[in-house]
Amino acid sequence: MISDATKARFDREVAKYPADQKQSAVMACLSIVQQELGFVSAESEKVVAQHLDMAPMAVHEVTTFYNMYNQRPVGKFKLNVCTNLPCQLRDGQKALHHLENKLGIHMGETTSDGLFTLQQSECLGACADSPVMLVNDRSMCSFMTNDKLDQLVDGLRATEGK
Ligand code: FES
Repeated sequence: MISDATKARFDREVAKYPADQKQSAVMACLSIVQQELGFVSAESEKVVAQHLDMAPMAVHEVTTFYNMYNQRPVGKFKLNVCTNLPCQLRDGQKALHHLENKLGIHMGETTSDGLFTLQQSECLGACADSPVMLVNDRSMCSFMTNDKLDQLVDGLRATEGK
């Protein structure tokens, strides 16, 4: 269920658009849900749909189109490695495999300590910097050699005292 405080945040986003275009706030409302719950469940999609007078499927289409929306719980650090074709040609897949080996998980999985989730991503718009990856949907990392990948993972683990 959704709190009154969350509904108030939804309403602040809706107020940014003309009254007959409240659906334009769908991405912002989904972001609010993710900030508060960590992921966007089917139940949350229905709440957003109801709030914006949208069909639940239309909300689901947005959630599934943008891979920044988590459709299930993820680790504290979400690592998205670009494996689109230009990056494939410049070691993107090797970087993903290196992280799978280092973390002991497969792409799409989360480590048992809940720290890392490893995912593929679509083009991040930095093909010339491959291998590239995004950490927690915010921090772009370029030219990720195996050494740099190790440093990144070890550094993130160290911030958690592990
Ligand atoms: S294909 Fe990877 S950043 Fe463009």
